[in-house]
Amino acid sequence: MPRDGLIEDVSVKPDTDIQFDKPSVDDGSDVWALVQDINALDDNSMYCNLLQCSHFADTCVVARHEGRLVGWMSGYRPPKSPNTLFVWQVAVHPSMRGKGVAGRMIRWVLERPWNKDVIRVQSTITRSNDASWALFRSVADRYDADLSYDAHFEKDRHFDGEAPTEYLVTIAPLQRAVIRQAA
Ligand SMILES: CC(C)(COP(=O)(O)OP(=O)(O)OC[C@H]1O[C@@H](n2cnc3c(N)ncnc32)[C@H](O)[C@@H]1OP(=O)(O)O)[C@@H](O)C(=O)NCCC(=O)NCCS
Repeated sequence: MPRDGLIEDVSVKPDTDIQFDKPSVDDGSDVWALVQDINALDDNSMYCNLLQCSHFADTCVVARHEGRLVGWMSGYRPPKSPNTLFVWQVAVHPSMRGKGVAGRMIRWVLERPWNKDVIRVQSTITRSNDASWALFRSVADRYDADLSYDAHFEKDRHFDGEAPTEYLVTIAPLQRAVIRQAA
């Protein structure tokens, strides 16, 4: 019997090097440390990471390489839009980038039985985050879905000039039956 999440699915290539898992509350501090190390994301409190790893575990994933945490994706299904997976943060350790880890984390969460009814992925991205745009375009491509975006949290209006505008990216509708094979 496969463990929860280790479902047999064409979208997640078997990989002996990287293990994907639903987080547990014991992962919270490692997640916090990874985000700190990467130094490219908003710092959340460790308490926030503990809540993500417990209350929101069904829409989050940890990726490990040789026992070390190398990837993290947090997300949730917004109460007013439960068929949407909102991706909050995606983080891959610099040593593991460009190997498909982030894309596989998102697909891993989408393909979990708990999330089978998700038909839309959303996230916010700043204009300059090329890797993130490429990642979400790749997700759209895999699910044969359209990608659209619009300014959402604006630099002056919402961030008081303290942070760049975040664009809300919407990938929909996901074609769950025709997911393309992971590269
Ligand atoms: C964004 C990030 C998570 C991507 O992780 P990754 O594991 O390297 O991404 P993947 O290898 O799964 O790549 C996914 C797609 O994006 C492309 N891509 C990844 N990084 C890229 C880059 N720097 N420039 C252009 N394309 C890139 C890949 O080629 C791939 O496309 P494909 O599926 O068509 O081949 C990683 O760069 C990161 O942790 N950045 C810092 C944190 C961050 O900015 N997170 C996003 C905002 S929350």
